[in-house]
This record gives sequence, C-alpha cells and structure tokens, in this order.
Amino acid sequence: MRIRRYLMCEPRHFDVTYSINPWMEPAKPTDARLALMQWERLRSLLVGLGHHVDLMAPLPGLPDMVFAANGATMVDGKVLSARFRHPQRRAEGPAYLEWFRRQGFETREARFVNEGEGDLLDTGARLLAGTGFRTDRRAHAEAAAFLGRPVLSLKLVDPRFYHLDTALAVLDHERIMYYPAAFSAASQAVLRRHYPDAILAEAADAEIFGLNAVSDGRHVLLPPQTTRLAGALTAAGFVPIGVDLSELLKAGGGAKCCTLELRERPATPEPAKEQR
Ligand code: ARG
Repeated sequence: MRIRRYLMCEPRHFDVTYSINPWMEPAKPTDARLALMQWERLRSLLVGLGHHVDLMAPLPGLPDMVFAANGATMVDGKVLSARFRHPQRRAEGPAYLEWFRRQGFETREARFVNEGEGDLLDTGARLLAGTGFRTDRRAHAEAAAFLGRPVLSLKLVDPRFYHLDTALAVLDHERIMYYPAAFSAASQAVLRRHYPDAILAEAADAEIFGLNAVSDGRHVLLPPQTTRLAGALTAAGFVPIGVDLSELLKAGGGAKCCTLELRERPATPEPAKEQR
C-alpha cells in the first residue's frame, strides 16, 4: 500500500431531487443525517488506515457534490477539470476547479464533457476511460494528452453502471476488478486482453455497487454485503473492508464516488507486497 491523499466533500446538502441515473428516485425519502454518518465513517476509515483526507466545502443547491470523484481528474500533479453532462451538476466543475487552483496545482479546463474520475481511472501505467453515458469519447484523447498517459477507451452499455467506477475498480498498478456485462463485447475483449488476471464480479455484487471500491493497493473499501467479491479479494492478497453507504446509493454513489485521489507526484510502483 502507499499512503494516499483524498479529497472528499461532506454530504451536508445531500438529497435526491432529480434523476439522472436509474438509482435516483426523487420520490423516495432520503435521510440526511444517516448519509452524513455513513460518509463520516468512510472518512474516518481512510484516516485510520493512515491516509490524508482534504475537505472541499459543500455548496447548497448541489446535492450530488458529495461525489468528489466526479470533480476533476488528477494525475502526477496535473488537474483536468470536469465538464458535466447534466445541467443539474454543471456548477460542480468550476467549484472543484477553483479548489485545485487555490492549492496551486497545474490545471486545465476541459473542452469535452468528462465526469472526472467517475470515468477516468488512472492505474499508474495508463488511463482507463469510460464512455457511453456521461463522458464524451473525445475527452479520452484530451485527458491522455494533457495528463501524459496512454488511454484505453471502454464502452459502458448498462445504464445502472453509467460511470466507469461503478463497474470497474483499480486495485493496484496492474490489477483491476470489473463486471464484464457492464461493457460492450468489444470492450470486454479489450479488458480480457490487457487484464487476463482481473477479478471478475458477478451481477449480485455489482448490483450493490461492489465495484465502486477504494483501494490503497492493499485495503479495499467496499459495501459490506458483497460476498464473492470480498472472498476473491482476500484470495488475491487484498484486505477487504466493509463500509455501508446505503444512503448515498440512493443517488447512485458509493465509496469510490465519494473520494477523489490527489495524485501529486509521478506514480511510483507499489512496493513488493509484505508477507502475510
Ligand atoms: N447522482 C450522481 C450522478 O448520477 C452520482 C455520481 C456518482 N459518482 C461516481 N463517481 N460514480 O451523477
């Protein structure tokens, strides 16, 4: 594992007031206090593991702002702004960009629609980039050029898995886990070719957002209800840690959605795994 720095945004204004993915049902009540408690548990778990968590001030009128992963994409200290597809979330892009500017990071305003690290996942070696529902395919080349990584474009086909990070998680430099049926046949073939040893999730675990997981290279934070996935992670040498974010799932988000990894320096390979 490597000590990481994450950006998070308290769900102080969290609610489901519109629907831009199949999980969101504005008629269903949300419990703001419970959302806050679950989010706080995630934050304290990360801190307890030795990671740093920076906080972004939540803005009223932006109920999805808790999903910091969408706020930007940061690789080797460079920050590409997010440009949201839906008007309901559009103001989040400039708000997050402003935070990064104030930290003094090198920033770039995106030309094409991209929903940050919801769809752009850095493995250290390359960017895995999702498209199909939110991020414009043209944003993949834009991100690759600015962030200095080769890119692998992946097409999402199931609306429940509308962001790449709902269907695929980067575990460490070389290893990923994903739910094959969320991808087009061509993208499944690409994934098989590049990641023959990937952990494959089954429908039951994917459907409770088991793939919306945060990995520090050793610990993997994911919903406590996943069964096969937690077992597969343990067998592969990872340490699964359950974190319940049921309230945020009402907006179609989980642990990974709530965190944006701040990658300040060029990634160094993970140290050899310690003996267990
Ligand atoms: N309600 C939000 C949306 O539909 C959820 C975003 C989840 N974030 C993520 N990284 N998958 O845009």
